[in-house]
Amino acid sequence: MSTRKDFGGSLPVANVQALASDNSGDIPIRDLRAELQSEEVLVDESPHIPIIDMRKLMVDDDEMEKLHFACKDWGFFQLINHGVEEVIEKMKMDVQEFFKLPLEEKNAYAQPPNNIEGYGQAFVVSQDQKLDWGDMLFLFPLPASLRNMRLWPENPTSFRETLDNYSSELHRVSINLLRSMAKNLGVNPDKLASMFEDGTQGVRMNYYPPCVHADKVMGLTPHSDATGLTLLVQVNEVQGLQIKKNGKWVPIKPVPDGLVVNIGDIIEIMSNGEYKSIEHRAVVNPEKERLSIAAFHSPDHRTMIGPLPDLIKENSANYKTTSHDDFLRIVVTRKLDGKSLLGQMKFAD
Ligand code: OGA
Ligand code: NI
Repeated sequence: MSTRKDFGGSLPVANVQALASDNSGDIPIRDLRAELQSEEVLVDESPHIPIIDMRKLMVDDDEMEKLHFACKDWGFFQLINHGVEEVIEKMKMDVQEFFKLPLEEKNAYAQPPNNIEGYGQAFVVSQDQKLDWGDMLFLFPLPASLRNMRLWPENPTSFRETLDNYSSELHRVSINLLRSMAKNLGVNPDKLASMFEDGTQGVRMNYYPPCVHADKVMGLTPHSDATGLTLLVQVNEVQGLQIKKNGKWVPIKPVPDGLVVNIGDIIEIMSNGEYKSIEHRAVVNPEKERLSIAAFHSPDHRTMIGPLPDLIKENSANYKTTSHDDFLRIVVTRKLDGKSLLGQMKFAD
């Protein structure tokens, strides 16, 4: 049986949007980050992540090669000509409308206890944990049979239909990308695609209010995505996503109509380490709110999480193989003890 309980819950914390609109300029002590000052000097503006043209991927070997390099060397790329521009535009509008609703109305979809789905904050497990400067609405549109419709906003009125379309279109794009990645890795595209066909999709809508002390708070703590493949949309013109490259934080400048795609921990493991799941974070703007929508794609719950068998015929496995349920348990434990997930899944050298 697949349940959502595996993800655990979050301790209730203050709504950040409400906190930000109280104009005192005071930041609660739990939101202040001492470590930021020293890291800020490491921001490197120059490199740009690769841009992959989805239409070319189908017909052009050079574009396929570019994709392979992007997954190996960057773990991040921007996808253009994916054909879902209109659906994305609708989704952006509806998500913006939702976060504009009065707090009471948004709270009608609040995370229930012991559940990560709904409106609230990221996984908060301890009373003295540093908090992120952002609120989110997290839903699991796929598999559709497990949707918790009580947590799907009815305002704006088009929201449910928009998310339904968004979900299926982005799922389709992710399967197509996985097929191209499989070809590049030298594994059977049908086999890899079939693992994700009935897989899980989580859609996390992030709202980062402005903060006068933007340099002292963090929108989203540095992390790698524990899932398979992430497709992210930046909703308004405000940038904030940064990825770690050679020890420096590199800001991502989203191209219009593009999707920011990144390799998650599960694809790193399945590729036996050939593809990289990269640490990233979201910083906050001092004057403007920022919104983003991340869609996480994972295999179905029957899939074993480990290096793909075709890749370890000649090479030794660099990662352990676990059931998907055990993998999710490790994800949750990691949040409690702070140990790196990939570190736990890797065989010692
Ligand atoms: C995420 C994430 C970055 C952003 O939701 O996992 O990395 O730009 N978001 O909001
Ligand atoms: Ni992320």
